[in-house]
Amino acid sequence: MVPFVSAEAIVEEGDDRTAYAGVLRFYELAKHQEWQVRDVPWDALPPVPEGKGSPERLARRRDVWRSVVMQQLQADVIACEMAAQLLNAAPDPEARLYYSTMVQDESRHTEAWLKLIGLVGGEGERDPHLDKLGHMFLEADTLEEKVFLMQVFFERLIIPRFRLIARSSRGTILEDICNRLAVDDGIHHGSGMAYERILLARAPSGIKQQLVDGANRMLPEFAAHALWRPKAREMIGHLMEARDRERLKMELNHGVRLAASLGLDVSDIVVSV
Ligand SMILES: [Fe+2]
Ligand SMILES: [Fe+2]
Repeated sequence: MVPFVSAEAIVEEGDDRTAYAGVLRFYELAKHQEWQVRDVPWDALPPVPEGKGSPERLARRRDVWRSVVMQQLQADVIACEMAAQLLNAAPDPEARLYYSTMVQDESRHTEAWLKLIGLVGGEGERDPHLDKLGHMFLEADTLEEKVFLMQVFFERLIIPRFRLIARSSRGTILEDICNRLAVDDGIHHGSGMAYERILLARAPSGIKQQLVDGANRMLPEFAAHALWRPKAREMIGHLMEARDRERLKMELNHGVRLAASLGLDVSDIVVSV
C-alpha cells in the first residue's frame, strides 16, 4: 500500500490526530483501490445480458436492463452532489482529503453508467423515490446527519443490490461495473462509520435524536425506492415482490444495527416493509 505522506503536512503541529487514523486509512484504501473507466473491458463484453428469442422479446429484455442501469446512473449523479457537499462541509483535514477521493469515485461511477446507458438505448424513466432520498440528504441540516444518511445507511444498503445485479448479469459490462462499485461503496460506508464516530463524540446533545428522526424519514423512502419498478420492469416486479420484501427487511434491520453500534438509541426507529 502507498505510504501516506501529504496529510501530516496540513495538520497543525501539536494537535493530537490519533482519533483520525481510521479516516486516513480509508483515504489510503481509496487511493489503492482507484480504477479508471478505461479499465472496464468495454470492447470485450456485451453491455448487458442479451438473451434469446424474437426481436420483440430481445427489445423488452434490453428495456428491463436499461431501467436497471438508469436507476444506478440516477443514484450516482445524486451521489456526486452529496460527496461534494461532504467535502465542503467537513472541517477536518483528514476527512477533507478522504472526501476528495469520494467526489472522484462518484464522478467516475457516473461516467461509467453514462457510457453504459448509451450502449443500451439512452436514459429512461426516473425513480421518484431516489429523487426524494437525494433531497433528504442534500437538505439535511448538519454534517452528522449527512454522513449518517448517506454513508452509514445508503451506501451500506446499496451494496447487496450491486451483488444481486452482478449475479444476474454474469459476463457483461454491467457485472464488471457492479463489482467495482460494491468495493468502492464498501469503502465509502466504512469511512463514514469511522468519521461519524468522531463527529458524534464531540457533537452537541440532541444530535443523536436528530439522527434517529432522520433515519425514520429515510427508511420508508429507501424501502419505496427498493421496491419501485419502472414500466419496463412492472411484470417481473410482481413476480419477485415477496422475495424483495423479505430481503429488504433484512437489509433495513442491518441498517438499524449499524445505528445502534454508533451509540444511538434505536428503539424509536420504525422498520416497516
Ligand atoms: Fe457511487
Ligand atoms: Fe458511493
